[in-house]
Amino acid sequence: MSVHIFYGSSTGTAEGAANSMVEVFEKQGPVEVHDMMDGETDALDPGSFHVFVCATYGEGELPAGAEYFFETLGDEEPDLAGLRFAVFGLGDTIYDDTYNAAGKIITAKITELGGERVGERAEHDNSGEDDPEETAVEWAQGILPLI
Ligand SMILES: Cc1cc2nc3c(=O)[nH]c(=O)nc-3n(C[C@H](O)[C@H](O)[C@H](O)COP(=O)(O)O)c2cc1C
Repeated sequence: MSVHIFYGSSTGTAEGAANSMVEVFEKQGPVEVHDMMDGETDALDPGSFHVFVCATYGEGELPAGAEYFFETLGDEEPDLAGLRFAVFGLGDTIYDDTYNAAGKIITAKITELGGERVGERAEHDNSGEDDPEETAVEWAQGILPLI
C-alpha cells in the first residue's frame, strides 16, 4: 500500500521527522512526502495510508501551511470514509495548556471527514531529550505493522 506523509512545519523539525520516516514506510510500499503548505488535498486517498507530522504554533494552533491545508479541506469537504491515518505531533511542554494541540486538531478534522486513526498519537517534546528524528523512526516502526 502506498503511504502519503503530510508535514506541517515552520522551522524544519517536523519536516526532518517526516523525511526520517520515509525509509521505514518504504518497507510497506511507495512513499510520498508532502508539505501541507502546498495544499495537495487531492493526494488524500482512502486507498492509501496517511501519516500527518505536525508542529503546534500560536496558542495551540496549526502552523500556517497546515492551517491553509485544512482550510482548503474544510471548503472541499471530501468524503474520506475509510481513510486510515496516523499522527505524529510536535510541540513543547513549556506551552502547558496547548501542548501538542496540532495532533489533536488534525485527528479531529480528519475523523470528522470519515478517516480512522490507527496507533498511538505521538507527542514529541522539543524541551525533552529525545531527538525528533530518532523518535519519529521508532514511532514509525510501531505503526508499520498496523498499516
Ligand atoms: C512561537 C512558537 C509558538 C509555539 N506554540 C506551541 C504551542 O502552543 N504548543 C506546543 O506544544 N508547542 C508550541 N511550540 C513548539 C513547537 O511546536 C516545537 O518547537 C516544534 O518542534 C517546532 O516544529 P517545526 O520546527 O517543524 O516548526 C511553539 C513554538 C514557537 C516558536
